[in-house]
Amino acid sequence: MKVLVTGGAGYIGTHTCVTLLGQGYEVVIVDNLSNSKPAAVERVRELSGKDVAFYQEDVGDEQALRDIFQKEKPQAVIHFAGYKAVGESVEQPLKYYENNVGITVALLKVMGQCGVKNIVFSSSATVYGDVENPPLREDAKLPHHANCPYGTTKLINEQMITDCAHADPAFNAVLLRYFNPVGAHESGRIGEDPAGTPNNLAPYIVQTVVGKRDKLHVFGNDYPTPDGTCIRDYIHVVDLAEGHAAALKLFEKGGCGLRVYNLGTGRGHSVMEVLKAFCEAAGQEIPYVIDGRRDGDLPESYADVSKAKRELGWEAKKTLQDMCVDSLRWQRQNPDGYGD
Ligand code: NAD
Ligand code: WQD
Repeated sequence: MKVLVTGGAGYIGTHTCVTLLGQGYEVVIVDNLSNSKPAAVERVRELSGKDVAFYQEDVGDEQALRDIFQKEKPQAVIHFAGYKAVGESVEQPLKYYENNVGITVALLKVMGQCGVKNIVFSSSATVYGDVENPPLREDAKLPHHANCPYGTTKLINEQMITDCAHADPAFNAVLLRYFNPVGAHESGRIGEDPAGTPNNLAPYIVQTVVGKRDKLHVFGNDYPTPDGTCIRDYIHVVDLAEGHAAALKLFEKGGCGLRVYNLGTGRGHSVMEVLKAFCEAAGQEIPYVIDGRRDGDLPESYADVSKAKRELGWEAKKTLQDMCVDSLRWQRQNPDGYGD
């Protein structure tokens, strides 16, 4: 099967491409490199030993996208492309609605015009908002808006794709709600390469280990959790990548209609537990300071993963220790990420 991967040069996209290529899928990457580097695509080629078609295009450019679909004739799409910085989305909401919602409209239109009926969409645990208590199940009632514009774009995308599935019985869509992806490919050749100061916990910690940051700022230790710091469901990015391969299998089996799955481990870890695991993996103390709470953070979030296990035959295999060891290897081997 040939799969067109939007955002395939990004963090999760590169890992997914390597997994898919390893399983015999053909991959076509469309990425405008707004948050990634050409070297990432080169590393995918290097790791897979395969020739991967790459188009540096904006997914919102319908004509360019149509040309790619007509030339490459993919059977399925995995749609990773989008912006993902929560804080930036609060400051510049239209940037997020334009890119994250607008390009999905363009993509769905072009898929329709070209007769491509299978899509896997990168959603997020952020769609659950703060209404339900964990473990979060896919059938939870979703809020009308998330706690930031970024999250709301995920809700809107889910709704648009759901409406397309309702409008066309032959349309197949798998919405994957990722929890907290961390880690890197065990080769140390691909990994997360955030621009500027990292917003997320794991990249901030690894940059502290290599001396790019002075110390970790722990955002609050007065939450109603055992050690007072927030609990999240961290999932290794390679496990996540395999979840996408499992989703594609649904298309190969025939019409699956609309499906929604959590991709997490089902286990929560606190900020202090993550920090301790990184200290062990790094073999050193990692300086930190306790700061105030960050706006919008929930005390606790972790997935109910039973549906993905039952229906996709997929479950996360890697441990928090694996995530730490692999993130550190990537950071140490590539202190400046993919470079300029
Ligand atoms: P990333 O920024 O590393 O990758 C996204 C890629 O999309 C980048 O390479 C970027 O250049 C590309 N892109 C953005 N806008 C584009 C456009 N208009 N046209 C073409 N390419 C475009 O992010 P990631 O962490 O790999 O996330 C991938 C997807 O997963 C995103 O949709 C994100 O919202 C979602 N997600 C990520 C996380 C996470 O914590 N990383 C969690 C849940 C969901
Ligand atoms: C984890 C924990 C922080 C940084 C975000 C998005 C979510 C999804 C995944 C895309 C929290 C604490 C963090 C730091 C800290 N992305 N922390 N110091 O907020 O669970 O999820 O990424 O869909 O939508 O919101 O992940 O890694 O930012 O934070 O103490 O420097 O680490 O307060 O408790 P989060 P995170």
